[in-house]
Amino acid sequence: MGLRRGVTFGTAVQGGWLDTEPAYAAMVAAEAALLVPEWEGKWSALQPQEGRFDFAPLDRILRFGLRHRRQVRGHALVWHQAMPDWLLTALAEGPQRARAVLEAHIATVLDRTRRQVRDWDVVNEVVADVAGSDTPQAGPGELRDSPWLRALGPGYIDLALRLARERDATLRLVLNDYGTESDEPWSLEKRRRLMRLVRGLLERGVPLDAVGIQGHLQMSERFSPEGFRAHVEELRSLGLAVLITELDVREAPRIAPDIAQRDAAVAERVQSFVAAGLAGGVRTVLTWGLSDRESWLLRDPDVARRDGAQHRGLPFDEERRRRPMWQALADAFATLPER
Ligand code: XIL
Repeated sequence: MGLRRGVTFGTAVQGGWLDTEPAYAAMVAAEAALLVPEWEGKWSALQPQEGRFDFAPLDRILRFGLRHRRQVRGHALVWHQAMPDWLLTALAEGPQRARAVLEAHIATVLDRTRRQVRDWDVVNEVVADVAGSDTPQAGPGELRDSPWLRALGPGYIDLALRLARERDATLRLVLNDYGTESDEPWSLEKRRRLMRLVRGLLERGVPLDAVGIQGHLQMSERFSPEGFRAHVEELRSLGLAVLITELDVREAPRIAPDIAQRDAAVAERVQSFVAAGLAGGVRTVLTWGLSDRESWLLRDPDVARRDGAQHRGLPFDEERRRRPMWQALADAFATLPER
C-alpha cells in the first residue's frame, strides 16, 4: 500500500508473534514495507540488567525484515517508560553516572543494529502534557518530568541526540511524540511546546533529522486537517522530515450502537488525518499494530475501554479482516499522484 505513490506504509510488530503465528506473519508481510518493534527496542528489553544486553527479541524482527526485505526502524532509545529498576537507581546517583549509562546504552545498541536499522526514535515522549488533556502533567515545565530530566536537566535531549550522531554519523535521528495532532486547546499548546523544543535544538546545533508524530488519535477530540497540515509544514520548513509513527484510533466514550457507523467514523478521521499529513509532506506512515487482535488498545488498561466494548481503531479487525480504516489509508495515499 502506498509505495507507487512514494509513501512507505509500516506497522509496529511483535517478534514472538512473527515467529509463532503464521497468519499474523502473513498479514504483516502482505501489508507492511516497514516494521518497528512494539517493545523489543525499549530499554528494559535491550538492557534488562546493567551491562547485560539481550538482542534476542529484537533479532526476531530483524530476521523477519531480512527474510522479507522489509526495513526496520528503531524505537526507542530514551523514554520515561520501560526503564528497568537498575536504570532508575543509576539515574538517581547523579549526572555523571546518568551520562555514562546513557552513553553505554546508545553505543552498544547502535553498534549492534547499525547495519539494518537506519532510523531510530532517539528520544520518545519528552514534551509535557498540558492541563485539559487526558494525561496532564503537574508542574510548570514544558518538558515531561521524567527520570531523565531529573538526572540530567533539559540537556538530556541534546545529549542523547549528540551521542547518537557521534556513534553513527548517518543514522536518521528522530524525536517522537504524541498529543499534537488534534485541534483541542491542550493539543495546540503541546504543538507550541514541541515547536519551541525543536527550534531550540536546531538553534543550538543539536543533530535532529525528523520528528515522529505518533498519531494515537481520539475520536472525542476535534480535528482540523488544515491545522494539522500547517503543523507538519512548520516542522518541514525547519528542514526536518515528518513521520506518522504510531497511528491508531480510540473511539469516543459514547459509541454508536451500529458497528458500521463506528467503522465509518474512524475511517473518515483516519482519511482526513493521513491525507492532511501527506499534504504537509509526510511520506512515512506506520500504524501501531495492524489488527485488533494484537492491539494495545484492547489490552492496555491505560487505553482500553471500560464499558465492555472494544476500540475499532486499526485497519484489520479481530479476525484479521480488512475494515473501512484500511480503505481510508489507501484513499489517503491515493491523494498523491502515482510516480
Ligand atoms: C506501548 C505498547 O504498545 C504496549 O504494549 C506497552 O504496554 C506500552 O507501550 N507510545 C509509544 C509506544 O511510544 O512505545 C507505546 O507502546 C504506545 C504509546
